[in-house]
Amino acid sequence: MSDPMRPPASHRPHPASLRSDPSRPRAALRTAVVWEVLQDALDRRVKATGRESLDVLDTGGGSGNFAVPVARLGHRVTVVDPSPNALFALERRAAEAGVADRVQGVQGDAHGLFDVVERGGYDAVLCHGVLEYVDDPAEGVRNAVAALRSEGVLSLLAAGLGGAVLARALAGHFTEARQALTDPDGRWGEGDPVPHRFTAEQLTDLVEGAGLRVGAVHGVRVFADLVPGVLVDTEPGALEALLKLEEAAAELPAFHSVATQLHVLGETRGADGA
Ligand SMILES: C[S@@+](CC[C@H](N)C(=O)[O-])C[C@H]1O[C@@H](n2cnc3c(N)ncnc32)[C@H](O)[C@@H]1O
Repeated sequence: MSDPMRPPASHRPHPASLRSDPSRPRAALRTAVVWEVLQDALDRRVKATGRESLDVLDTGGGSGNFAVPVARLGHRVTVVDPSPNALFALERRAAEAGVADRVQGVQGDAHGLFDVVERGGYDAVLCHGVLEYVDDPAEGVRNAVAALRSEGVLSLLAAGLGGAVLARALAGHFTEARQALTDPDGRWGEGDPVPHRFTAEQLTDLVEGAGLRVGAVHGVRVFADLVPGVLVDTEPGALEALLKLEEAAAELPAFHSVATQLHVLGETRGADGA
């Protein structure tokens, strides 16, 4: 049944309008590439299912950086997160965006996912910035995939190893850069707040190991974290030009190895997006 709250496709926010949101330019810089890939994937699911409103699970969805915009597209989003503070912020953010009726926050974690949500109940599962923190990333991906219906898409975003090495080196922390390069978890030292980083190959192996095929891989924040803020904030048109550069580099495998984050779109074998 069509959802009267869902705007027709032609009226949905285009990534370009999200990119140029003047109130959150830096945030847009961090999310634009992922958002564009995700929105296309959801649009393909809408066409394939014939349902305007999809069921989306955002595992480790936090305060709703993606869940709320996805709900604004007209989809129903369940956010599972262990943090009560994040869920509280999510509730407030969803209310402010006028989508409280389409966003449900549930306390839980990737490990015990099916204690709190239905197995095989979702058209799309988001797992963004979470795999870094779970004890067993392979189990995290397997659970995310098991939450999908027989046809569905997984949007997986995780910290990239090479981006961290490059960032430490450019900041003059050469020993830490080398440590990250050789550490099995890609950590640069005891003070590193990120428990695991991944190469594109490790992430695609996890996705394929869980039974999906890889639809696309994108490098995220290839340049954005390395460019001095003053160049972006003061030069007219610089932010838009940087966004276009990020977009152009995102799909090129050569840049995957230096991206701050990597995004992998996984698709069930039947979900060809046609
Ligand atoms: C970096 S934030 C990302 C939030 C959101 N996905 C986004 O992209 O903005 C990481 C989130 O993962 C959650 N988290 C940490 N450990 C988790 C686990 N074992 N299972 C599920 N979520 C977890 C945290 O509470 C936090 O909200």
